[in-house]
Amino acid sequence: MKLARKHILKVKPYIPGKPIEEVKRELGLKEVIKIASNENALPPPRRCILAAKRSLSSLNRYPDGGSFYLKRALAKRFKLKPANIIVGNGSDEIIILALRAFLKKDEEVIIAKQTFLIYEVASQVAGARIKYAPLANFKYDIRKIASLITNKTKLVFIANPDNPTGTYITKEEVAYLASKMPKNAILFFDEAYYEFAKSVKDYPDTLKYLKRKNVIITRSFSKAYGLAGLRVGYGLAKEGIIDCLNRVREPFNVNSVAQAAALAALGDKKYVNKTTKLVESGKSFLYKEFKLLGLRYIPSVTNFILVEVGKNSKVIYKKLLKKGIIVREMSPWKLNSFIRVTIGTRIENRKFIRALKNIL
Ligand SMILES: Cc1ncc(COP(=O)(O)O)c(C=O)c1O
Repeated sequence: MKLARKHILKVKPYIPGKPIEEVKRELGLKEVIKIASNENALPPPRRCILAAKRSLSSLNRYPDGGSFYLKRALAKRFKLKPANIIVGNGSDEIIILALRAFLKKDEEVIIAKQTFLIYEVASQVAGARIKYAPLANFKYDIRKIASLITNKTKLVFIANPDNPTGTYITKEEVAYLASKMPKNAILFFDEAYYEFAKSVKDYPDTLKYLKRKNVIITRSFSKAYGLAGLRVGYGLAKEGIIDCLNRVREPFNVNSVAQAAALAALGDKKYVNKTTKLVESGKSFLYKEFKLLGLRYIPSVTNFILVEVGKNSKVIYKKLLKKGIIVREMSPWKLNSFIRVTIGTRIENRKFIRALKNIL
């Protein structure tokens, strides 16, 4: 395609988990469960549905481009100013905005070899030079990452916890990396799974770097808050950084229904607790079953588990699909012997294990 900018043709398109309706259509199935995209297994909070419904009567108007009420509530929660916050069309968007706002010609980004795929896609679209840091035993290797930093480094992307491995980097590792960052580079902490990991003993509090360092912290309403379909996430940083991100975002990037629902979600501690409890009990169940099946898994602090099912994981993925169970096959990450499974409801977890046993 000669029309396209050259580097765009090198971009590997993102392959999402298959939608339920697509699998139903393609395989003629009536019942399909999706445990592929690390969504919340529970229906969205009731108060969010009500808030979303209430907002529908203003759909003739554009949304509030500044997400005023949501930013005000987030500012209160984090004891920050609204000027320290940006709301995005999913936290994904903030990754794209950071590259758009800060990456200069010939500058580099550092990403882990197996991590959230959007860092690579967005960096390729932005024309960045990408340096890849291999994982060490399925974990970010902070010393390796630090060794790749040069005076051309602009952004270092850290998914903490990481997807697809479910592992995390500790307080000490964050402190080490922060101490190695050059003045003109940004440390990007993607904490989309924060609510699942926050009570882990040595999980870092990155907010304490906000004022002193060039950091961006992103979190999401798609996971623990159960609003993936609405696409809302947010970024926290010092005012100067947020100002630059705002300059390059679309004026109405977050729709009004999403803003209303996210605001309602923020006050719903019960829902988040219910979610994390469900995830913890589902995780124990799946770990136990994997052990019984003799399958290696990577201990996870998130709502998903990477599990090794053997050389023919693509075959197993397809067989599960035929039984109406969508998991994530791992070839995009070159982890070909693994599948990634999102922790579902009790019934979904049991269905998955029954099917997996049957196939193996
Ligand atoms: C590590 C990580 N960051 C960000 C996201 C995207 O979150 P959002 O829905 O807020 O764009 C995901 C989604 O799977 C993720 O795994």
